[in-house]
Amino acid sequence: MLKKFARYPLTFGPTPIEKLERLSQHLGGKVQLYAKREDCNSGLAFGGNKLRKLEYIIPDAIASNADTLVSIGGVQSNHTRMIAAVAAKIGFKCRLVQESWVPHEDAVYDRVGNILLSRIMGADVQMVDEGFDIGIRQSWEDAIADVKAKGGKPYAIPAGASVHKFGGLGYVGFAEEVRAQEKELGFAFDYIVVCTVTGSTHAGMLVGFAADGRERRVIGIDASFTPKQTKAQVLEIVRRTAELVELGKELGEDDVVLLEDYAYPAYGVPSNETKDAIRLSARLEGMITDPVYEGKSMQGMIDLVQKGYFPEGSKVLYAHLGGAPALNGYAYAFRNG
Ligand SMILES: Cc1ncc(COP(=O)(O)O)c(C=O)c1O
Repeated sequence: MLKKFARYPLTFGPTPIEKLERLSQHLGGKVQLYAKREDCNSGLAFGGNKLRKLEYIIPDAIASNADTLVSIGGVQSNHTRMIAAVAAKIGFKCRLVQESWVPHEDAVYDRVGNILLSRIMGADVQMVDEGFDIGIRQSWEDAIADVKAKGGKPYAIPAGASVHKFGGLGYVGFAEEVRAQEKELGFAFDYIVVCTVTGSTHAGMLVGFAADGRERRVIGIDASFTPKQTKAQVLEIVRRTAELVELGKELGEDDVVLLEDYAYPAYGVPSNETKDAIRLSARLEGMITDPVYEGKSMQGMIDLVQKGYFPEGSKVLYAHLGGAPALNGYAYAFRNG
């Protein structure tokens, strides 16, 4: 589905799928859980889901003759860390707007984890006191204008690389990769669980899995706590991406499965249940998830298994999208383990 699009390789290649045997057994053994390790996809600054998206965006950035990547996220944004890494790798400058998206206080929150790594990689990091919003932001538009005013050539990448025209392509590729891996494994997954915030990871998967009729088997776990806006953005990206790859099939709102029950109490703030899920997968599988994204999708998957959402015998693929560096900003929450 992606042959006609230019791709700039930023990842190691297909990511491994591993069985979560002890977690599956712990939850009753009726559902088999697997993880696709997108968190281990690259040597670029700890990797993660943004790199798959950026592989299809960077050729456009290079072709546009730009010299500076300009992007935006929260203070502990994984996405902006990935932009800083990619800018370093391709020899671009990097301007990052870090908004105050998370009502979370930790003494070193703005010094460690993702933002620390972005600073080390040489990004020009600008802190902006604005709250959470996955849409297009004035602060980002101002940063683009500022780069231009200073004689630079900006290439603009929106939050999560999601509403970029090519933002959905990378995760179409994820679905194609899973299909190839399923042939080797000798079975197909019944469900794919994914954490959803800015939407292009979920949207790309949905389009990719629609090719074999599994669009409603992609179970998005909302972590934005603004699920209406997130769902609308997923649908918009689904439509744009389906057209780009010439899917030849209409997809609508009912195809976007987005579960809203796990994002509380706010974007970036873990509930006790999220923290329990992070501990459980760490203690049974040695698999590290974070309080903003994957901890919430892990919590969702565990709850869905316990509630009997997945029929007995189901094989469920948990997309581990990365994000562990943010844990450093939550040291106090885990001070006793
Ligand atoms: C670790 C991690 N998981 C999940 C997501 C959600 O992906 P998306 O923004 O494409 O919905 C993100 C980024 O927002 C992320 O950094």
